[in-house]
Amino acid sequence: MSMSDNVKKRMAEGSWIRNMFEEGSRLKQHYGEENVFDLSLGNPVMEPPLAFNQELKKLAERPMPGMHRYMSNAGYPETRAAVAAQLSLETGIKFTMNDITMTCGAAGALNVVLKTILNPGEEVIVFAPYFMEYGNYTDNQGGVTRVLPTDDQFIPRLNALEAAITPQTKAVIVNSPNNPSGAVYSQDLIHQMGHLLGKKESQYGTRIFLISDEAYRKIIYDGLTYPPVFYHHLHSVVVTSHSKDLALPGERIGYIAVHPGCSQHEELMAGLVFCNRVLGYVNAPALMQHAVRNLQHVTVPVDEYQKKRDFLHSHLVEMGYRVMKPQGAFYMFPKSPLEDDVAFVKELQQWQVLTVPGRGFGMPGYFRVSYCVHNRTLEGSLDGFRKAAQKFKIC
Ligand SMILES: Cc1ncc(COP(=O)(O)O)c(C=O)c1O
Repeated sequence: MSMSDNVKKRMAEGSWIRNMFEEGSRLKQHYGEENVFDLSLGNPVMEPPLAFNQELKKLAERPMPGMHRYMSNAGYPETRAAVAAQLSLETGIKFTMNDITMTCGAAGALNVVLKTILNPGEEVIVFAPYFMEYGNYTDNQGGVTRVLPTDDQFIPRLNALEAAITPQTKAVIVNSPNNPSGAVYSQDLIHQMGHLLGKKESQYGTRIFLISDEAYRKIIYDGLTYPPVFYHHLHSVVVTSHSKDLALPGERIGYIAVHPGCSQHEELMAGLVFCNRVLGYVNAPALMQHAVRNLQHVTVPVDEYQKKRDFLHSHLVEMGYRVMKPQGAFYMFPKSPLEDDVAFVKELQQWQVLTVPGRGFGMPGYFRVSYCVHNRTLEGSLDGFRKAAQKFKIC
């Protein structure tokens, strides 16, 4: 056999979103694009802000000499300084470019961080439901993923975390606003988590990183905010990107920010830069680093997503679905009317509505609905959701 057994196994276990994508293509061919309501992907339909196009135009009209060459593997100093300045403004903590590495999206950032910190067999704790790639990324770097349950609002339970931390624990990944639940973690939770990690570090004489995946940090509703994790744990690392806040997922631009007070900071930063190189990313895309430098304060109109959330949530609730109102990101995670979430997702497909089973996020019994789509797609999906609700008598 030419393919590794591990890759085969991981492909079989974790390809729910890809499966939905393929099913969507098949249904679109059969019924026509406008008759399929694809709520399976986190691929924003929103266009990037105008300011992004203006930056591109400036770069095309007045190219800088050498702007497409190799650079330091950490990224352009000017871009890292711009990211640091914005972070300093948002957190009140003094960041400099020495705390920042530019990456190929948040996905690249996570792989770089995990490769830098993990010894073989060390553990990474995640909370279900979670972005399924965490397991693959941890596996890529020889680590072991430990999945912990959350409460009925999808919030991590600190007592479960305390019980799960061992001398082998190297990192805890938090993702808020959360994909797929839309939950935003409170300042109190992060504070207590930071305190717990500090306590366990002292107990075991180890270092436990709090990796905060903030891909959706700017997409929060109802005036809520997500507190900077940097206030609560010295060994904290933020990974994020402009895939969602500037609607640039295809451009692969993101960064890692390390707490300026993190111990052995210089060595860690050198490790991140090395891993960016040897994982084969080499550096984040040059053109994008130039383009986003002046856009650190810019975000897509979040109220548009909030309107989509309100529309879909109110309809699903009225139909009888049990679904928490998301506080951020652009997903909902309703309880599946059937215990078997895959069977329910297949039922929805009969009415050309595409969603993803909760087991694709480590949480069977739920399904994920993505609402970063056109309003006409949301409107068109209601009929299928209603028919499924009637069929399974939840209304
Ligand atoms: C929670 C979460 N983290 C990371 C990523 C990867 O983002 P990027 O496109 O910046 O690599 C995604 C993408 O959907 C995500 O949902």
